[in-house]
Amino acid sequence: MSRPLFKQEHSSEISNQSDNPAFSSVVSAFLSRRRFLQMGVVAGTAAAFPALLRSPAALAVDNAIARATSLGFTSIAVSTEDTVRVPEGYIARPFYRWGDAVGLAGNMPEFNKDGSNTTDEQAAQAGMHHDGMAWFSLPAGSESAQHGLLAMNHEYIDNGLLFKDGAANWNLDKVRKGQNAMGISVIEVKKQGDSWTIVRPSNYARRITVNTPMGVTGPARHHDLLKTAADPQGETILGTMQNCANGHTPWGTYLTCEENWSDIFVKKAAPNALEKRYGISDSDDSYRWNEADPRFSVDATPNEPNRFGWVVEIDPYDPDSTPRKHTSLGRFKHEGAAITLASDGRVVAYMGDDQKFEYIYKFVSEGKYDPANRAAAMDLLATGTLFVAKFNDDGSGQWLPLVQGQPGLEASNGFASQGELLVKTRQAADAVGATKMDRPEWIAVDPHSAGSVYCTLTNNSDRGKEGKAAVDAANPRANNVYGHIMHWVEKGNNPAADAFNWDILVLGGRTDTDDEKAKGSMKGAEFGSADGLSFDPRGVLWIQTDVSSGTINKKAYEGMGNNQMLATVPGSNEYRRFLTGPRGCEITGIAFTPDNRTLFINIQHPGEPGDDISDPANPTAVSTWPDGDKNSRPRSSTVVIVKADGGVIGS
Ligand code: FEO
Ligand code: CA
Ligand code: CA
Ligand code: CA
Repeated sequence: MSRPLFKQEHSSEISNQSDNPAFSSVVSAFLSRRRFLQMGVVAGTAAAFPALLRSPAALAVDNAIARATSLGFTSIAVSTEDTVRVPEGYIARPFYRWGDAVGLAGNMPEFNKDGSNTTDEQAAQAGMHHDGMAWFSLPAGSESAQHGLLAMNHEYIDNGLLFKDGAANWNLDKVRKGQNAMGISVIEVKKQGDSWTIVRPSNYARRITVNTPMGVTGPARHHDLLKTAADPQGETILGTMQNCANGHTPWGTYLTCEENWSDIFVKKAAPNALEKRYGISDSDDSYRWNEADPRFSVDATPNEPNRFGWVVEIDPYDPDSTPRKHTSLGRFKHEGAAITLASDGRVVAYMGDDQKFEYIYKFVSEGKYDPANRAAAMDLLATGTLFVAKFNDDGSGQWLPLVQGQPGLEASNGFASQGELLVKTRQAADAVGATKMDRPEWIAVDPHSAGSVYCTLTNNSDRGKEGKAAVDAANPRANNVYGHIMHWVEKGNNPAADAFNWDILVLGGRTDTDDEKAKGSMKGAEFGSADGLSFDPRGVLWIQTDVSSGTINKKAYEGMGNNQMLATVPGSNEYRRFLTGPRGCEITGIAFTPDNRTLFINIQHPGEPGDDISDPANPTAVSTWPDGDKNSRPRSSTVVIVKADGGVIGS
């Protein structure tokens, strides 16, 4: 979730589900297919993935960590407490909270718990609403698990918490403070003895905001649709925003993904087809930036929205580097970008477009990764081919290329160049007949089997409704309030393949019901609305949930507790609950140190009040986490988790 108002995630009551006679047969079909695919995975393991070309996580597997075959912790109970709970033997501690100093030399302002920090102070402090996150060892290129950088997203803001007087007395300075509370943090972290600290000041410390200059690569660079009065060449964009999930590359860069950017723009005149397809309207979900900053008024600055919706690459090791928006990876509401390497060394990025009935994409680079040439690797995401997924009902699937001039993608259809096509990625995907999915969120690639990929489909309360797409085999439930997790194996176990076989890893839902529409297919801990998804270096799959605040108290989720994090060894169908979050939060962001002994996660929007922004007069109405102080504000925070005995997380 990424906005102060929750229209996108409102879910209907479970009793509104329409019948789906095909459901039982679909379930048995995917279960039998799954056995087949699991065998395929084992047969195709890492042999096709030369050691030198593996990701840092996979290299760590070679060096130190064997594949996990079971989980070693006891599943914890659901919780409605206003705290973070983890299994016995683990320690979890809030570590980097909204308003904590990022660590800029000579500029480390304290957090004012009444929301009175200035606009300039906010630019030197952690932003709001932490989301995706990645670990980078120090020194660069090492596998250090004691010293490194964390790069993380600050997805959105809540004006009710950000300002002492909320949205009253609105002006440009308030807009700028909001812009400084979004974007990215890079912090330096170090383990001293048993304890993790943030290094302050640090030469690596950095905040990237909605006003940080960024370059542009790929076919849409210099395209007319990217040009504005302030940037007549279409090559320098100010900032990134609505940074949701992320990716990281084998060459040590961070990828931040622009998701609900359209919520910030306002167009009072009627939207054109492109604007409409991306959700730009005459209202802005409470941000109010357009009132003081004409950049966010589409009537005043028509092409500014085209400059958002991209994947941005950041070099966390160089605080002076200019981030770059890679237009080859397409423009949509990017959730994340999961990176792996094809068997020939080409770079592959898997990406979800998180909205109801949107698509799953992948990018395949033209060039090949050479671990000895970091400078060349920096250009790999600039040139390549974008594909969109078609899931057939028989369990097969194709990657359909989005290349200008192909059938349906000609100039006569509105795609005069590849640059124009990429700005209109959603329309291009519509034109080739991609499969409409139930809100694709995070994607994770098995570090022990590069062709085996998983994607959370968080939920879709509109599936099967009149006038909306019907159920299909890949999205088998009408009014899908619990979501599911997809799995596919690329042809030949090669991530660059043009075809795949898919199945469903698990259907979210309850374990206390026989109602097929509400029943989860998991054994063990029940969950719904999976969102965050990541493998650890041992091949344990970690799942983070985001049941929206407007849904969590409804009947479908009654008794299922606060949002949570779970683990599974794929193939076991056993799920254990590892963590429960405080009230009103979602769990997101996940980064392991290479030794698998420290886990960082993010708690986003603790205390979220439901369907509106927080009340500045009563900000702790729902939660006081993490400070436990009624006179403070709930604060999104990175949490550091270790085993008390220093052991491997999950073992
Ligand atoms: Fe920002 Fe789709 O979650
Ligand atoms: Ca979110
Ligand atoms: Ca979500
Ligand atoms: Ca998400």
